[in-house]
This record gives sequence, structure tokens and C-alpha cells, in this order.
Amino acid sequence: MAYVLTIDGPAGAGKSSVAKRLAQLLGIHYLDTGAIYRAIALVLAEEGVRPEESESLTQALPGIRIELRGGAVLANGVDVSREIRTPRADKLSSVYSALPSVRRALLGLQRDQEQYGSLVVEGRDEGSVVFPKAPLKFFLTATPEARARRRCLERERRGEPVSYEEVLAAIRERDIADSSREVSPLVQPEGAVRIDTSDMTEDEVVECLLSRVRDALAKGEISA
Ligand code: DC
Repeated sequence: MAYVLTIDGPAGAGKSSVAKRLAQLLGIHYLDTGAIYRAIALVLAEEGVRPEESESLTQALPGIRIELRGGAVLANGVDVSREIRTPRADKLSSVYSALPSVRRALLGLQRDQEQYGSLVVEGRDEGSVVFPKAPLKFFLTATPEARARRRCLERERRGEPVSYEEVLAAIRERDIADSSREVSPLVQPEGAVRIDTSDMTEDEVVECLLSRVRDALAKGEISA
């Protein structure tokens, strides 16, 4: 039977790499919901729709088609996989994802992914709103400083160095926006296992999650 594992937490807590590896090790799908929010935000900005509830937002949303193909994200048929990883997309996604209409528009797309089989899904409200009945939920967190250091390393590896101070300020700003918004704020879902990854290596986090999943599988709390 298909099962869903949710991983929520703030930006830079290491969710993406851990979720990807966990899915790989378990041989199940991986769903990066942040990528979906990033893609829709880019399209809305491109179309000149202001980041507020309005008639033009309501009219624009049904015309936007976001698709996930393998590792790629397509917006209205165009591959935006690279574009969604820019600092501009960081900001835009944070602003547009606070709008209830945007969240509603993306709910179906996220839930539909379950039909393709078991899933590791990563985001902000996956265990609390999108998949509240998920049998196993994780909440990954880390200090803003640890998260900023990771983001800087990531960007450096991509050949796009950024200043640590700027990244730290942006993370703090996004934390406030993501957790203070009215709809689906970032919260630790009920029943979620909380893991502070500040002083853990990626391997240790993966191992920690994997052992919880194996435990749940062995106890029959989830079944493959
Ligand atoms: O995880 P990320 O940094 O790629 O997410 C981009 C933005 O989308 C972030 O500001 C929070 C938002 N988001 C959300 O509101 N709900 C989700 N399930 C996933 C992401």
C-alpha cells in the first residue's frame, strides 16, 4: 500500500537533500513542494499579477499549469528548474505562497502525487495541511546561522558565491514571513518527530530518519 512521509521545516534545514536521499534509499518518489510554489510565483510575477488577493489573481491561477517531470519543474510547458533556484525566486515564492488562493490552487496537484505510489514529500505544511493523515511526519529545524552557512556552501558549489550576512538576513526575513502568515503557517505538525540538524551531518540526519521509517515499517505502522 502506498504511504506518504512528510518532512516540513524552515528554509535551509537540510530538508531537500535529506528528503531526496531518503526517497532514493526507500525506492519511493520524492516531491519537492517548494519547487511548485517557486514555479507558480515566477509565472505570476511574469504575468504582472500583484502579490495580493485580487480578481486578477483569481483569474490568472486556473491558466497556470505546473508539471513535475522526473526531476524537472515545468511552468506552462517551459522548464524552469534553474530559474526557480535564484534569490529572486526565493523572495517571490515566499510572498506569493502566503496567499490563500495560491495555496488552494496547489493543493490538488500535491495530493494527486500519491496516486503514483509511496512518497517522501517536503515543504512547510505537508504534515499539517496537505497530508495530515501521513503515518510518519518529520520536522527538521536548525539555527538560522547553521542554515545560512549551508545555503552559502550550496551557492558556492554552484559557482554563485553570496555573502553570509545577506543570506542570514534573508533567512530571518523568510522565517518570519513563513511562520507568521495567516494561512498554513510553518508549524511543527502534530505528531511529527522534531530533529534539530544544526550539529548533524547530512548522513546522520538521513540515518536518523531512515531508522525511524524502518522501525515504523517493522511495526506495521506503515506498509510498503
Ligand atoms: O522549500 P523552498 O525554500 O523551496 O520553498 C519556497 C517557498 O515556498 C518558501 O518561502 C515557503 C513556500 N512553501 C510553502 O509555503 N509551502 C510549502 N509546502 C512549500 C514551500
